[in-house]
Amino acid sequence: MPDAPTYHIDRDAFWRDPYPDLAQLREMAPVAWVPELGAVLITRRDDIFTVEKKIEAFSSDQPEGLMTRLMGQNLMRKDGDAHQAERRAIFPSVSPRTVRDVWKGQFEEFTDRILTRIAPDGAADMVTLARELSGEALIAMTGLRNMSWAEMDRVSQGMIDGCANYVGDPAVEARCHDCTASIDRHIDGMIEELRNAPDASLLSVQLQAGLSMEQTRANVKLAISGGQNEPRDVIAGMVWALLTHPDQLALVRSGEKTWIDAFEEYARWMSPIGMSPREMRQDYELHGVTLKVGTRVFLMFGSGNRDERVFDRPDVFDMTQSAASSIAFGAGPHFCAGAWASRCLIAEVVVPAIFARLDGLRLTGEVPFGGWAFRGALSVPVAWG
Ligand code: HEM
Repeated sequence: MPDAPTYHIDRDAFWRDPYPDLAQLREMAPVAWVPELGAVLITRRDDIFTVEKKIEAFSSDQPEGLMTRLMGQNLMRKDGDAHQAERRAIFPSVSPRTVRDVWKGQFEEFTDRILTRIAPDGAADMVTLARELSGEALIAMTGLRNMSWAEMDRVSQGMIDGCANYVGDPAVEARCHDCTASIDRHIDGMIEELRNAPDASLLSVQLQAGLSMEQTRANVKLAISGGQNEPRDVIAGMVWALLTHPDQLALVRSGEKTWIDAFEEYARWMSPIGMSPREMRQDYELHGVTLKVGTRVFLMFGSGNRDERVFDRPDVFDMTQSAASSIAFGAGPHFCAGAWASRCLIAEVVVPAIFARLDGLRLTGEVPFGGWAFRGALSVPVAWG
């Protein structure tokens, strides 16, 4: 057991609302062993901002980790040169220029098509709608045009469940294998077409860069596992947050604030990815605690983004405070490769279109939230017209 102070949590209560425990941890034990999670948690924003860059000590390479075992070793589970080489290979697919010149037009096209289809319904669950929008965006960006959005959503969730399956449930593991096999089949079905007509998709740029099929498959699976639920949760969550904070919506409508401001503040406040794991490769001392080689460490982005040492009103959704120090997309060499695409999809295209096209948008029921490693609304029932 690490020599960090021990802090116990109630797993169910933590899943429902992690913030009270995270505030306690920041205050009393910013480096603490939490037996119920089997890891040492680092909870203060500036500590995370510092240690995420110290890759020689805080390693992303976890060969025995669930993600690597189930999905293959992707770029997020590599350090140093090996990591940077694959980041360079995928950059042409996720760069700000490609997002502006290639993806934005496609995002606008399917958003218009989907909103036109649902407008006559007069009501929906924003989470279901956001799953479809997020899935369509991933189909475009990965190059798996032979996959449906529902299958994209299914395989993403199956892999996420597999990577969080610390209890080793065989049914969850089998479903994850079925999902990765489905992705492999869809990749096989697209290779010839993309070799003949290369494009900016994640699959194609990796083929063009000459990465091995093992690397290429693992990185496409990574984008699917890390690029479906997060945009879904921000789209549905932003709609809920703006409808329950009419003063904030008024700031955007008056032009005093922008949709990007709303996006950054929501992503800070509700951090769709609340945690990222590291394994100690060198002993490292932090707040008097020595993190020894082999220790599993959780960098708690969701806590850092509520750090009262950094944010004026951390627990409040308020665009009048600065979100510039937000670490919602990470804080080091593994900074989210999909950040530009996400900002464009959500804040430049989808959420503005939802508020512009669905007149009189209003909530029609309860909105429960859940999760600490991944956090979002479970359902956002709305009506319009
Ligand atoms: C609002 C949406 C999103 C949020 C909040 C988010 C958040 C994050 C965070 C916190 C990390 C860093 C993890 C770490 O430091 O270990 C990350 C990494 C990553 N994200 Fe995202 N993400 C989002 C959307 C996406 C999308 C749409 C894609 C795919 C196109 C994507 C692809 C990736 C990749 C490939 C990495 C690994 C980067 C690396 O290791 O170098 N993300 N994301």
